[in-house]
Amino acid sequence: MSVDSQKTFYLETFGCQMNVHDSEKVVGTLVNEGYRQVETVEEAGLVLYNTCSIRDKAEQKVFNRLNDYKKYQKQGKRFGVLGCVAQQEGEKIFERAPHVSLVCGSASYRNLPQMLEQLETARPAEHASFDEASSRSPAFSPAGRGISRAASPSTLVRITGLDDRETDECFETEFTARTNPHRGYITIIEGCDKFCAYCVVPFTRGKERSRTSDSVLAEARQMADLGYTEIQLLGQNVNSYKDPAGKPGGKKTFAELLAAVGEVPGIRRVRFTTSHPRDFGRDIIDAIDAVPALCDHVHLPVQSGSNRVLNAMQRLYTREQYLERIAWMKAAKRDISITSDMIVGFPGETEEDFADTLSLLDKVGYDSVFTFKYSPRPNTPSLALEDAIPDEEKARRLEVLMTRQKEIQIIRYKKYIGTISEVMVEGKNEARGQWIGRTSQNKTLNFTAPNSSAPKVGTYVSVRATVSFPNSLLGEMVV
Ligand code: 5AD
Ligand code: SF4
Repeated sequence: MSVDSQKTFYLETFGCQMNVHDSEKVVGTLVNEGYRQVETVEEAGLVLYNTCSIRDKAEQKVFNRLNDYKKYQKQGKRFGVLGCVAQQEGEKIFERAPHVSLVCGSASYRNLPQMLEQLETARPAEHASFDEASSRSPAFSPAGRGISRAASPSTLVRITGLDDRETDECFETEFTARTNPHRGYITIIEGCDKFCAYCVVPFTRGKERSRTSDSVLAEARQMADLGYTEIQLLGQNVNSYKDPAGKPGGKKTFAELLAAVGEVPGIRRVRFTTSHPRDFGRDIIDAIDAVPALCDHVHLPVQSGSNRVLNAMQRLYTREQYLERIAWMKAAKRDISITSDMIVGFPGETEEDFADTLSLLDKVGYDSVFTFKYSPRPNTPSLALEDAIPDEEKARRLEVLMTRQKEIQIIRYKKYIGTISEVMVEGKNEARGQWIGRTSQNKTLNFTAPNSSAPKVGTYVSVRATVSFPNSLLGEMVV
């Protein structure tokens, strides 16, 4: 294999937007190190998976994929596991998938260039450094560091000498390789301190660390200069954002940061995800009302409509407090679209609890809900609770929930027929002869346009909705 082909990499991403954005940073970092990204596993010298462990299915998918490509090991390819499964499983991955050469958890991306260098030049003499380090700290803790090893299973290398402060900082790089030239992510806060009973995130993503508002704004301005018009602010819990720097009185709250990003010249749309109801302030709604560039959409995961289950989940709010936040949104001047996440079958969830979740659907009137069957996760507090609800019952509740929500969406989407919305043109479905558009409310509004005035991807056009579906709208461009 030539040096050049060794320096090619293939990267596949699983999981949430945080992971998608981390991958953009990983690609930027690798390209800066002289690597070239390729489209297929076959072409790559280094195969990387950026992994998700939010539910057991997501995790299983990673190991299945690793297994599928085991055959390529003979060709000298190296395999690396990044992201949440890497953070969670650490060295155990080497036991489960012995052809893996590199494990780099999400808290360790800053060390990736060094790890790759060590991997490329790994010598048997480096056994010692691993052995020494591992005998000093045998367990790979959730906040542990990335580890790599050469293709030969006996050559192990561990990065040493990095303190927790370094590894715990946000993963920022000037080499972010954003894939979309019109809309892009900016991380404002990483990690989570909430410890909801079911959630693995505090263990995979570590404690909360906010970026300074100055650096977020500098990145937003830089993106605007490059022609970006839409920015999505990212964090596991953006509402918990705490500006770490700035003059006294100069620190920004999350709502102030949101407004400031919305006022960056050239930025037409700002979104944010994800919110935690406990930390969600009324000032966010005021900001949406005051700054037109802030999108009229809030994703506010509720997880359950039952106070008993919310308490067991350690969500730190009641159904009533959640509904109070919904009332703020409904009282806003703008028509704010609300979406959510819900879990069915949390340990101890009774029929009555589930009925409370269904009644919450009716009360709120969501435009979309992501629904999940509870799945026990390593390290989480709810692991101690018996997962006694059979999978068939979880599946039944999920089905009932989705059917009810679909009925709600059919009614909600119908109301948009005849209305005109501005959409960002995202692409074209050639087979259908339709353009793909997204509204400020984050709804898909596909449309037809006369050939003579075909829109450009990344521009904004007005579309009149003519047909509604449970999840999208269809319309005609207003020329
Ligand atoms: N089981 C099922 N769903 C989960 N989620 C998070 N952890 C679990 C789990 N252990 C869901 C929550 C969260 C979304 C991203 O994934 O609804 O908001
Ligand atoms: Fe999955 Fe959570 Fe990690 Fe995102 S942060 S990739 S949802 S485990």
